[in-house]
Parts: sequence; structure tokens; C-alpha cells
Amino acid sequence: MSLLIKNGEIVTASERYIADIFCENETITRIDRNLTPPKGAEVIDATGKFVFPGFIDPHVHIYLPFMGTFAKDTYVTASRAALVGGTTTLIEMCAPSRADDALAGFELWLSQAEGKSACDFTFHMSVTKFNDQTEAQLREIVKRGISSFKVYLAYKGAFGVDDTELYRTLKLAKELGVIVTAHCENETLIAERARELLAAGLTDSGQHHASRPPAVEAEGVHHLMTFAELTGAATYIVHLSCQEALAQAIAARQRGVRVTVETLIQYLTLDKTHAEKPNLEGAKYVMSPPLRDKRNQEILWNGLRDGLVQTVATDHCPFDFKTKKKMGKNDFTKIPNGIPSLEDRINLLYTYGVKTGKIDLHTFVNIASTQAARTFDLFPRKGTIQPGADADLVVFDPNYRGKISAKTHQINVDYSVFEGWKIEGRPSVVTVRGQVAARDGKFTGRHGHGKFLQRKPSHF
Ligand code: URP
Ligand code: ZN
Repeated sequence: MSLLIKNGEIVTASERYIADIFCENETITRIDRNLTPPKGAEVIDATGKFVFPGFIDPHVHIYLPFMGTFAKDTYVTASRAALVGGTTTLIEMCAPSRADDALAGFELWLSQAEGKSACDFTFHMSVTKFNDQTEAQLREIVKRGISSFKVYLAYKGAFGVDDTELYRTLKLAKELGVIVTAHCENETLIAERARELLAAGLTDSGQHHASRPPAVEAEGVHHLMTFAELTGAATYIVHLSCQEALAQAIAARQRGVRVTVETLIQYLTLDKTHAEKPNLEGAKYVMSPPLRDKRNQEILWNGLRDGLVQTVATDHCPFDFKTKKKMGKNDFTKIPNGIPSLEDRINLLYTYGVKTGKIDLHTFVNIASTQAARTFDLFPRKGTIQPGADADLVVFDPNYRGKISAKTHQINVDYSVFEGWKIEGRPSVVTVRGQVAARDGKFTGRHGHGKFLQRKPSHF
């Protein structure tokens, strides 16, 4: 099976030129001008369009038992949505609870994806407790192709680890060359502040922010950075939302701590006032860390432009508004945390980042694909366009104009926080290892085509 993409403007993190891309079986084999398609090849005319490497979302939740309920997508719905939106690789948080075995958890999460996913996938293995048995299982999981762990400094009792467990996880990660991704918020402060707010009768969704202000996140980052400094482990801060937390990461980096920073499309485009909307509408916008004061958006965009922030993910986490988010009607701590956005990340980043001049095209590719591939041991198989790389390609139409709506989206959730938002440009053709998987907003791929990506640790 072969595929020829003709006359597109190829844009990677470092290059921009017009050429044809020829793919055989699953791989890019030639890039040149005026290539002639062999008999039987599928030909896609990309004249006037960009061709980007397949985008990587390094932080999603698909199968997630959480806060007394489950996130709603499956690999069937989520991979479809990802592909329509230009994302060809998902890195999901494998998140067994503290009561569960790590290895059984890994196998359970894998079974949710294999045979169902239409796009490629891998996992960050959450370490939700640490004892001798967990350590042995983590070593086995790394042998099976996982090269990143996840720790939660929040959600104690469910996913959260204590300081001894954190230290031992980082020591093991350093030994194995694994990078540790981390949710950085101080759990004790959150619990105490939430208790005080509820006792004072302050129960609405707007209080979620008051229970976990920027200082709570900054303390979490500072805490992780201290442990990273003393163990030498490579770390990756997930969903960083504000200037205070970023300052802690930059200060640590300056003293030699190995830290990569991820922000989310939600923090770049939405702010705290959304979660303060009355009549429970604000519950749609509750996630952790919370949406922040608008002033933080400029700091995060500038951070992306200047290389202080390396990736943009979604932390996709879908809970229906009508049946799930409303569980927090009289108590904001019962609102399932998460804002779904898997399908819209690339279009929003292009429209509100590239088109407004906040970031250039190379930065766009870098923060949405290349950096994730490099950080998580997928480069150059993923994250770039070159001979030998997987033929994951996004032919992007910059002239498309449209709007986001829950009425038309593919993700399995009953609302969109971006309802009615304008989009300028969208993926026109998306391929996964040489197979066309989406065209102009429609899924055309095959469930089961998605592969588990085995990775080798490199962060020694
Ligand atoms: O609010 C969020 N972020 N929900 C998903 C779970 C997590 O904290 O990553
Ligand atoms: Zn988190």
C-alpha cells in the first residue's frame, strides 16, 4: 500500500518547504519535488495546504474511574475524535487506584485500548503507591515498553502518593531512565481550604478556585522540584496553569533540576470567570488546577514562544454536564474534575495561537507534536516528517472557517466549553502510519489500526 501527498507545504519544528511525501506501508520513504505515483498509489493533492507531522496529545484520560464515576469516552470515541482533530498519538494516564495492583492496572488500561483505538497510543504509568511489590511490577511494566511514570501530589487516598513514596518513585525512575510526570498541587492545603469554604456555606463552582489558588500549585511544583533535585530524576509537570507555578519550575531549572513543563489548551483560552458562571453552568469549567486569572494566559503563551513551557496537552477528561458535573450542585468538591478538549486542541492552538501571532508555525508543531515525541521517547518515529518516520501526517487546510459545537463533535460528552467558538483552519486529511483516518471533519479510519507504542527509557 502506498500513499503520495503532493505539493503540500511541509512544516516541522525547524523546516518549511514545498515537496511531495511518499509513504510505503507504514513509513515515509521519500520526500522530494515532482514525485510520480506508482500504479495503485493513493494520491492526495495538498496544494495550498500545510503538511504537519501527526500531533501528539501527551496527557489524556480515556478510561478513568474518578471521583465516584467514570470518564465517558472509550478508545472508540476518543481515537475517532483525536483523529478528526489532527491528533494521531495519544498518551493516556494509566491510573489504577491506590487499592489496585500496578501491573493489573497496566494490563486493564492496555485492554481498553488494544483492538479499539484507531490512532496510536501509549501510557504514563501512574504510581499510586510504592512498596516492594509495586517496585517489582514497575520494573516489569518498563520492560513491556513504558518509559514514563505519573505521580499525583493531590488526590490522596485515591491516586496520591506520600513523600516517602514520591522519593522512592523518583529514585527508581532515575535508575531506569524513566521520566516522571507529576500533578503538582498540595493536597493538605486543598482539603483544609475546601473544608473551610463549605463550612462557611460557600458551595458553588466558583469556590473551586478559592480552594486551590496559585500558591497551592506553586507549592506542589516547589515540592516536586526539591525531590527531583535530590534524586536527579527527570520530571515533567503536567497541566501547569499559572505564573506562580511556572516561576518555581524556572527557578528549579536554573539550578539544574531536570524539568519539562506542559500547559493545556484550556489555560491558554479560558479563565477563572468561566467557572464562576451561575446556575451550575460554571461546573462545566471545573478542573484541577483550576482555570486562572486571565493575566496568566499571556504568561503561558509567552512561555511557549520562548521555550520556558514545552508542550500543550488537553488533560481530556469528559464528564457529562447533565448527569455528572451536576453532582456538585450543593458542593463544589463533588464536581468531577476535567474539561474535555481532545478534538479541539489543534484547531484552537492554530486559530488562537498562530493566527493571532502569539506563536509561529514551527513553535506550533514543536509544542503540539515534536517536544512530546522527544520527551517521551517517540522521536523520530513520531513528531517529525522525514524518511523513516511513521507516516502520521496532517494535511491542514488554513482556509477552512467553522465553529465548534457539541452538536457536531465526536467526543462522547454532552457539552463543549468552546461552544460557538470560531475556528480558522482544520485538518483536511489525517493519516496514521500511511492509512487515511480522517477527512474534513469526518472519521474514515479503522478501529483496531492503532498500535501500542513501545518505548525505551532515555532519561538516565
Ligand atoms: O481536572 C482534571 N485535571 N481532571 C483529570 C484528573 C487530573 O487531575 O489530571
Ligand atoms: Zn492532574
